[in-house]
This record gives sequence, C-alpha cells and structure tokens, in this order.
Amino acid sequence: MSKQILVLGSINVDHVLRVDCFPKAGQTIAASSYNIMAGGKGANQAVACARLGGNTFMMAAIGQDDPGREIVQQLSDEGIDTSAITEIVDTETGVALMFVNAKGENMIGISAGANGCLTEEHIEQKHSLIAGADYLLLQQEVPESVILQAAHIARENHTKVVLNPAPATMFSGDYLQAVDLITPNQTEADILTGIKVFDEKSATQAAALLHQKGITDVAITMGQDGAFASSMTPGHPEGLMVPGFPVKAIDTTAAGDTFSGALLVALAEGKSLEEAAFFANASAGLCVMSAGSQSSIPYRFQVEEFIQCDQEIADAAAIPDTS
Ligand code: RIB
Repeated sequence: MSKQILVLGSINVDHVLRVDCFPKAGQTIAASSYNIMAGGKGANQAVACARLGGNTFMMAAIGQDDPGREIVQQLSDEGIDTSAITEIVDTETGVALMFVNAKGENMIGISAGANGCLTEEHIEQKHSLIAGADYLLLQQEVPESVILQAAHIARENHTKVVLNPAPATMFSGDYLQAVDLITPNQTEADILTGIKVFDEKSATQAAALLHQKGITDVAITMGQDGAFASSMTPGHPEGLMVPGFPVKAIDTTAAGDTFSGALLVALAEGKSLEEAAFFANASAGLCVMSAGSQSSIPYRFQVEEFIQCDQEIADAAAIPDTS
C-alpha cells in the first residue's frame, strides 16, 4: 500500500495577467493575456503529489462560492481525497492576483479568504487523518496556529512533517522544531537563517543552521542551478548540489510547489534525498516550461520521458574516450 501524503494548505483562484515587464508604482500597463485558474500553494502541491504518483489527501478551506467548489471538483478529478476540505459560510475562496513577466517571473498579491478562516478546531476534527498519514506537507498560506497544531499532532503520531516555508512571512516559526524536512528557496533560506544563499558553500552553511534547529533533511531550491540536499541521517554527513535541468523558463509559477510535491512522492517511494531531489528538479524544470499554475504541473510519465531524453542528449554529447 503506497504511503499516505496529507497536504494541509491553501486553495486560491489565480487571476493572472501576462505582461512584458512588471508595472512601476502609479503605472498602468497592458497585458497580453488574462486567465483565471486554480492555484494556491497547498492545492498546487497536492496536484503535484497526485500527478506524480502519490496517494494524496488534502485538508483545506474554500468559501461558499462556485469557484471554490469547482477547484475541489478538479482536485477530486486528479485523484486527491478531498473529504477534509471544509466550506466556510459567508466567506470567499482565497484569491491570488498575479503578474507574470516575459522572463517568466511572477509578482503575487493574496487575499486569504477562506484559507485564513481555518482554525485549530478544524485541525482537531481531523486529528485521526493527520495521525494516520505517513507525511504531512505544509506551506505558509494558512494561519500559523493551524500549522503549529497540525505539526504537533503529526509529531506525536510519527507522521513526518514536511514544510515548504512559502511564502516567506513573518511567522514566528515555532513549528520548525517539529519539522523533519524543509524545502526553502534561496530567499526563504536567507530569511530563516540570515545567510544569503547563492552557491554551494552558502547553502551548506544555511543547511547546517536548519539542521541545528532539529530539522533532519534540508533541500534548498536554487533555480536553474538545481537544489542543495543535506541530511543529518547517518551516511549523509554533508550536503551536495543536485544539478538542475537547463530549460527556457516561460512561467516559474508553481515550480517550488512542483519541487516539494515531487520530492515527497519520491521519498515516499523509498528514494534517497539526492535521488528525490533529482526527480524534483526534473519535475520543476518541466513545470517552468509552460504557463500556468496547476496546469503546468507535469504528470509522472512526462517527467520520466524528460529524464530519459536528457540522458540521451547527455550520452550523445559525451566525448568518446579514445585514450
Ligand atoms: O506558488 C504559486 C501559488 O502561489 C499560486 O498558485 C498562487 O495562488 C499563490 O498561492
């Protein structure tokens, strides 16, 4: 029986304007396209887990509205168990207003809506779901008290806690001591440790500080450079860079979500942290090659084909040893 992954996090309706450059304060700019799509870091990570082969459950809140219900239906169609998604009365589903520029970078503003209405009571009602899961995957788009409580229930019941500390917020981070695996990007690693992460050496230092907080496994995402993976478990005294895949970025939205979901699915299948980071880099690389939030998250067969194709290119480019 495959391991159970429970994602506790946000569901947003993403409103996306595609622009050449981000507007400056006071400026009005024309967009080349406008799309409304399913998003939210929690929902994106649940979709990544499901598409990549994980046995996925989601715990979240939507408002009393059709857009929220449609997203829940889509999540269910992906094979995600949505029975722990609550509808909050007299509230709207979370909304993200986004610009994506010609380099594929984004700027996002969020109205939490129902995501901000999740309470410790909701978490307590799902105590057995958290206790029975193998992994609890968290982000920072729901209230801190909710994350803290869920992480503690997980810890008490030997459910491994995985935190994608995004978006970078001013949360106190009291739950860090209950975290087993953390997946910050460079900015988030800087905020959590005070170390600017730009290469392997600085990533090693930041990871060491995260280990000191009691976190066993660390995977710092570093864009096209790949990810720095480091584990405190015996046999992994030092971390290493797991190279990324050189791709042309169309839209980086949900790349971090895809990485976290993919990493967890691979770990749940028994892969090592390094192997899982390799699989996650390939998945995130594919994600940035197309536009969209959930729509750009790849399926398992696509990632496997991509890895295979990359290997064939590498083999073809290898200089024959004639010595
Ligand atoms: O990580 C990307 C997500 O961040 C978007 O889907 C948006 O909803 C915001 O939560």
